[in-house]
Amino acid sequence: MRKIIIDTDPGQDDAVAILLALASPEVDVLGITAVAGNVPLELTAKNTRIVCELAGRPDVKVFAGCDRPIGRTLVTAEHVHGQTGLNGVEHPDPTMPLQEGHAVDFIIDTIRSTDDVTLCPLGPLTNIATALERAPDIAERIKEIVLMGGAYFEVGNITPAAEFNIYVDPEAADIVFKSGTPLVVAPLDLTHKMLTSAEWIETMRALGTPVGDAVAGWTDFFERFDVAKYGSAGAPLHDPCVIAHIIDPSLFSGRHVNVEIETESPLTRGMTVADWWGVTDRAKNALFLGGGDRARFFDLLTTRLGTL
Ligand code: BDR
Ligand code: CA
Repeated sequence: MRKIIIDTDPGQDDAVAILLALASPEVDVLGITAVAGNVPLELTAKNTRIVCELAGRPDVKVFAGCDRPIGRTLVTAEHVHGQTGLNGVEHPDPTMPLQEGHAVDFIIDTIRSTDDVTLCPLGPLTNIATALERAPDIAERIKEIVLMGGAYFEVGNITPAAEFNIYVDPEAADIVFKSGTPLVVAPLDLTHKMLTSAEWIETMRALGTPVGDAVAGWTDFFERFDVAKYGSAGAPLHDPCVIAHIIDPSLFSGRHVNVEIETESPLTRGMTVADWWGVTDRAKNALFLGGGDRARFFDLLTTRLGTL
């Protein structure tokens, strides 16, 4: 079992990622930390608990973290995820509590007290970078950081040059990519190949469970935006790629490369500059994923979500 902390900004695709993790015996979710991103922190902390309750797991520890990027104004994505972040389904308010204490303290304390913790960031990297800044000793104790963010050939989804999670807090991303901790990156190059389909959404609905109905409703909602934007047949299920990689790394392929983050240029802020062709001697710091088996990825989701 991989011991993981999920750091997240739900977001419908974050929600599916959390459900996949909670449904999977290969992972032990030590806690979930919410960060501001797709919607403000108050909503991401609430949505995380909605998803845990939906999975029948009100026991999961959920912490609220940073409500804004390091040194920048928060940019949100209601235009993709709707006003609540989980548009597509009406959810009652959660009854499970938020844990006392700050997400960053939970991350630091857990890594100091527990060997081999893997961090799974699914949103802007503010909580993770703040933890690394405040407690530099944790960098070498973290087993791996497997994150959704960035792009190389696919370039940007929030600006022409940048992917949303990195764009929102490039200074945080810069800290994480320079931390020396082993990194696995699920960029748009991978996630834009993991497209939903009308058929899969119907498979979810046909589960006839609250989880199946929720996944179908959420995906249906945010698929509309992506289909209109990309002209694609479905919407990319970005964040579940992180959890799927933890469960079965053979699903995806990639290259070990150097990745650095643009923090200065107004034109390319948040760009993940990946040395894909090895044209520099900069040290390789990340496994940058690019290819994947879509059929097996959706089979995994269908099988696991069907158990909840
Ligand atoms: C990322 O941004 C968010 O909108 C999604 O939840 C995902 O984490 C994709 O760029
Ligand atoms: Ca996300």
